[in-house]
Parts: sequence; C-alpha cells; structure tokens
Amino acid sequence: MTIRKAVIPAAGLGTRFLPASKAIPKELIPVVDKPGVQYVVEEAVRAGLDDILIITSRSKGGIADHFDRSLELESHLESAGKNELLAEVRAVAELAQVHYVRQKEPLGFGHAVLMAREHVGDEPFAVMVPDEIVPAPLGGEADLMPAMVEIYERLNRSVIAVQEVPHEEIVAYGAIDPEFVEDKVARIKDMIEKPSLEEAPSDLASRGRYVLSPDIFDALAKTQAGAGGEIQLTDGIKKLADEQGAYAYVFDGVMMDVGKKLEYLKATVELALAHDDLGKSFKDYLAQLVAGLG
Ligand code: UTP
Repeated sequence: MTIRKAVIPAAGLGTRFLPASKAIPKELIPVVDKPGVQYVVEEAVRAGLDDILIITSRSKGGIADHFDRSLELESHLESAGKNELLAEVRAVAELAQVHYVRQKEPLGFGHAVLMAREHVGDEPFAVMVPDEIVPAPLGGEADLMPAMVEIYERLNRSVIAVQEVPHEEIVAYGAIDPEFVEDKVARIKDMIEKPSLEEAPSDLASRGRYVLSPDIFDALAKTQAGAGGEIQLTDGIKKLADEQGAYAYVFDGVMMDVGKKLEYLKATVELALAHDDLGKSFKDYLAQLVAGLG
C-alpha cells in the first residue's frame, strides 16, 4: 500500500523556546524566511506524502492561517506588481492538502499522534516532528523519508529514524538497542526514553521521523503516562517492537532541532549561507564578523 499520509504534531507547549513561543507557535518561528513547519511540509510533499494532518491546539491557529490563501495580501501583491512574492505566497497555500485536528490538552507526543487515529484510519502513515528539519539545501533530505517508506513497504514493519549522537547527549533522547540486519537498518530489540548514561543501550538516538503501522493507535491507547506525566510515542513503539517487531533506519545526513535555541541559531546561519538571495552578502558579513573576533 502506498503511504500518503503524514502527521505533524505541533500542539506542544514549546517551553524550550520561551519567551519567543509564548504568543507565537514555536512552529511558526522563521528559520531565515520560512517557518520551521513549512520546511517539514515541503519535505513531506517531496517524499510523496501529500495528505498532511497537523495536530494543533488552541493557541496555534496561526499555523492554519499560514497554509491558507490570503486573498487580501495576494491582491495587494498583484496590484503592486510583486509577482515573485505573489507566486511564493500562493505556493504555500497550494503545497498539499493540509488538515487539522486539535489536541485539547498537551498530554504528550504519543497522545498527539493518537489524535490522528480517525484521519489516518487503517493505513500506515508517517509522523514528522516539525522541530526537526532536514533542510534540502544542506543535503540528505532525499535519503530520509523515501528510504524509510521503502523499508516499511519491504519489511512490512514500523520504521523509526535514528542518528548516532555523542555518548553524553543520549540522555536527552530515546535510545535504541539495535540488532543490525542490513546496512543502516536495525531491528529494535529495546528502546528507552531519556536513559541515564549507564542505561543507554547504544548511542543511536530516535529522531523526529517515523513510518508507523496503524497498530500504533491501539498500542498508544493502552499506554499509561510515562516520563514527565505524558504519553510517550516511545512507549507505543516499544510495544510494537515487542509484539510485531519494528526497525530503525540510521540517518547520517544533517538534521537540526530548531526547537532548541542553539541548534536554531546554527540552522539559521547554515540556511542563510545556502540562501539564493542572501547567501553571498551574509557570507561576506560573517567573514568580516569572524575576522573581527580573531
Ligand atoms: P516536544 O516535547 O519536543 O515539544 O514534543 P514541546 O512540548 O513543544 O517542547 P518543549 O519540550 O516544551 O520545548 C515533540 C513534538 O510533539 C508535539 C510538539 O509540538 C513537538 O512537535 N507535542 C508534544 C504535541 O503535539 N503535543 C504534546 O502534548 C506534546
């Protein structure tokens, strides 16, 4: 079965990005000139996932506005002859079929995915975390979702993306216990959310891309709140891994967590350097700045 649906959970509180995320949804904070969530919707569409469900919440209405038409703005740009901007603004609204469901309480990442049950139905689907971007200009994007979809279709089991992280950083992620079955593909023997350094079974950290069997919904519905009082997706995936088997795909391209301030700054600099219009002047500025620091 072709996988077409992508779920983007965006109902979290974004506490790591306060105070900026107090009134603005974290997912709409621009990385150079595009909101983080737009990079992820574009990535989904390029991977053939053109039915998008965004899980939002009460304070996140701006996300739906961003992917909607803005007739007033369009007619202003049209009469001002700003055709390039007009095309760009229209393209955002035409990217994909974007649907929305609200999570009424922030009960966790796993709970947000459970909100997708009715829309997804009985077919495999992708989950893409909007904080984690795989910007096309930095390379690697083309290898990620297409590879995961291919693995799902071939092995008929759920697949999660993992990346090797420095050992001391594994405590911030879900860590897997891998049994490699192919180059870059491992069966998940176990998975521990935010392990201590001693507990961590490997330095392979779960990152924000998943292709899941619809059985995840039953697994999540039976999951009790875990770490931080939230329903964790990791617990649901662990159940799938135990009951039917699940796999990890080791992604070695660039993935940046723009929900963290330092990573956000790094992503902004790298994407500004790769930007068609801004790249050259930004590089000159940066070179001057760095020379001044030396
Ligand atoms: P995170 O825990 O990384 O994001 O959740 P957060 O809660 O927004 O951010 P911090 O930790 O407070 O800074 C991973 C993803 O799951 C979504 C988030 O929006 C993010 O995309 N999420 C999390 C929900 O949709 N609902 C929740 O209840 C929790």
